[in-house]
Amino acid sequence: MTSPSTTLSLVDTDPAELAVDAIVIGLHSQTGEQDAAGGGPAGALLLASGAESIAAAFDGKLTETLALLGATGAPGEVIKLATLGTVTAPVVAAVGLGPEPTGAAPAPETLRRAAGSAVRALAGARRVALSLPLPDDADAADALRAVAEGALLGGYRFAGYKTRPQPARREPVAEVLVAVPEAGDATARAEIERAHAVAGAVRLTRDWVNTAPNLQRPPVFADAVAEAARAAGLAVEVLDEAALAAGGYGGILAVGQGSEAPPRLVKLTYTPEGGGSGKRVALVGKGITFDTGGISIKPAQGMWEMKSDMGGAAAVGATMLAIAALKPSVTVTGYLPMAENMPSGTSYRPGDVITMYNGKKVEVLNTDAEGRMILGDAIARACEDGADYLFETSTLTGGQVISLGKRISGVMGTPELCERVRAAGDAVGEPAWPMPLPDEVRKGMDSDVADISQVNAGMDRAGHMLQGGVFLREFVADDVAWAHIDIAGPSYHSGEATGYWTKGGTGVPVRTLVHLVEDVAANG
Ligand code: BES
Ligand code: MN
Ligand code: ZN
Repeated sequence: MTSPSTTLSLVDTDPAELAVDAIVIGLHSQTGEQDAAGGGPAGALLLASGAESIAAAFDGKLTETLALLGATGAPGEVIKLATLGTVTAPVVAAVGLGPEPTGAAPAPETLRRAAGSAVRALAGARRVALSLPLPDDADAADALRAVAEGALLGGYRFAGYKTRPQPARREPVAEVLVAVPEAGDATARAEIERAHAVAGAVRLTRDWVNTAPNLQRPPVFADAVAEAARAAGLAVEVLDEAALAAGGYGGILAVGQGSEAPPRLVKLTYTPEGGGSGKRVALVGKGITFDTGGISIKPAQGMWEMKSDMGGAAAVGATMLAIAALKPSVTVTGYLPMAENMPSGTSYRPGDVITMYNGKKVEVLNTDAEGRMILGDAIARACEDGADYLFETSTLTGGQVISLGKRISGVMGTPELCERVRAAGDAVGEPAWPMPLPDEVRKGMDSDVADISQVNAGMDRAGHMLQGGVFLREFVADDVAWAHIDIAGPSYHSGEATGYWTKGGTGVPVRTLVHLVEDVAANG
């Protein structure tokens, strides 16, 4: 299921003369003596740079008019007005940027969200130009990257399954022009190309997450990922149920055995030309195509959202495609364990003892803690293949949502790497926060009969998210720096669209993973 596409390019024509359906300018909420466009006293509103020629065409009455239309400059706000010949574009849309920052330009995340809000609000228009405040200093590339990503992500819409055409539905913007000082500038052009690769990966992650779970059970999901990866030039290996059995992947098989659709382990490898820096990065993502909870079945309320329980695998698969396009100088291997967690006569059950891929014996206490079972195997395999850094991401625990909410991912693992994930998330606008792996939590998972219980032996939910991290640590080789990123909340947006987040899959943490891989390529 492919969603309508959005393309992006640069322009350096005067925004007032651009032949587009709508031109987007920025609006700050701060009180100012004079607006940045030199349009005179502006009350509580302040036009952002980039709006100069539009403001001039309106004879200095633009902020006044926007105020009368109810504009406040608040983030997320988009006020549209008809230009009736004052400028070439028939519509001007002012997008709120909040108070004017003390530095020269708004923060990248402010721009990313504003671009997303504007492009979403302009659905129905075909061709839109963004003339937003971009600094002309060392931060220019970051700001342009943010605007480009925001536009492409705000322009996302899942194609869906409606059998009839929807004439009343406004189509997403097809073409976005970003106004820059110099459209031929090589750095700027590289940013646009990068944005297509990275935002394309985020959009693909959203598509995979939003796909109905009956249409994307493990064999189908594995084929979709493998096909896209082969087309991108990655090396692809798919372990089917027979190969998993022969290989001793007890965790993946245990979870998969309750479903008629058998489990898979997809391995994708990117090898840089000339061997690269010599460092090896492993990415591992949870691919539960649907999580009913199994025999420890979940309540019906909201269970349908567990179609998003493959968000980690989707993010890893799509990140690998972005990496194939960006060609960083580091070897990267993606591992996507896939299974459907179903209750049936063949399901694994509480009390089962499972021999994992690395030989450890796990006592199952709750079949709904299935993610760690498939991930334990995939992590052990990744370590066996050889990795210097291992980043694993999964919709692992409801505890992540309880402790950090729906925006901030939880990170557990090697402290230095956790800090690196936090910094990467901060840089790309996907916040993540380091959490501990306490000894007493591990102690609580001591099993009477096996090497470890899958959850707290007394089924105590205290430190629930941390139990997940502590369990996964058992499968990481000693010499591998690792980080587990719990994205249970941030990978899926149940509410109304906001900024560049549309309803459903968000694509978190694709941009973080891309940033981390590039960081390792550049800095070791
Ligand atoms: N996939 C869920 C976690 C989840 C919850 C993701 C909410 C997204 C939103 C996971 O497999 C799960 O069921 N976790 C249980 C574990 C428990 C039974 C030990 C949980 O968090 O309650
Ligand atoms: Mn579960
Ligand atoms: Zn799950």
